Amino acid sequence: MSSSSSRQSLEVVVRELTAADLGEVSRLAEAAVSTPDDNTYPIVTLDKELRGVAENAPAANRKAFGAFMGDRLVATGCAAPLGDGIGWISRVYVDNTLRRGGIAGRLVAFLETYLKEHGCLSATLDFWGPRHTTQHFWLKTGYARTGTRAHPKFQGAFVVACRKAL
Ligand SMILES: CC(C)(COP(=O)(O)OP(=O)(O)OC[C@H]1O[C@@H](n2cnc3c(N)ncnc32)[C@H](O)[C@@H]1OP(=O)(O)O)[C@@H](O)C(=O)NCCC(=O)NCCS
Repeated sequence: MSSSSSRQSLEVVVRELTAADLGEVSRLAEAAVSTPDDNTYPIVTLDKELRGVAENAPAANRKAFGAFMGDRLVATGCAAPLGDGIGWISRVYVDNTLRRGGIAGRLVAFLETYLKEHGCLSATLDFWGPRHTTQHFWLKTGYARTGTRAHPKFQGAFVVACRKAL
């Protein structure tokens, strides 16, 4: 499955990540660590997790997708149908030199289409709070906050849960 963008100024092709893309996953993660910003994602976790998802894609319910500009991986995101019409989106990350070019919007639209095609009536996600950029993005993309809870792993941190009808 792949799709190209025509509306945004930055042209990307979105497709499923496979084990053959792991070099690009590492490159994206390393670039993020060397150019941190106020919205740096726990990129080491992203690298580890995407490796797991990409390597086990056929077995896992969750799939990892990437947005590419040519051969260059510029954004990632995972989608999983959870059952009962609910989908889960995670690991949305855009190369921090290419933000505000519509790449995340394009990628999330792709993830939502994937979830709809797999029987999901709504998409849910969590993001770490407080992250103002992240929250702006999800609210602009049509998600509503449904609550907050303590982060399951990191003491003192919390996550914001969101949902959107598909
Ligand atoms: C959040 C993130 C994915 C957005 O990626 P992006 O490609 O820059 O987003 P888009 O260009 O598609 O932005 C779509 C809209 O989101 C909002 N938005 C995105 N970045 C924003 C920012 N820094 N400040 C305010 N609003 C912002 C805007 O409304 C924007 O539309 P506009 O540019 O027409 O005003 C990116 O900043 C990122 O990777 N952050 C780190 C990882 C992260 O937080 N991921 C989400 C975890 S679940």
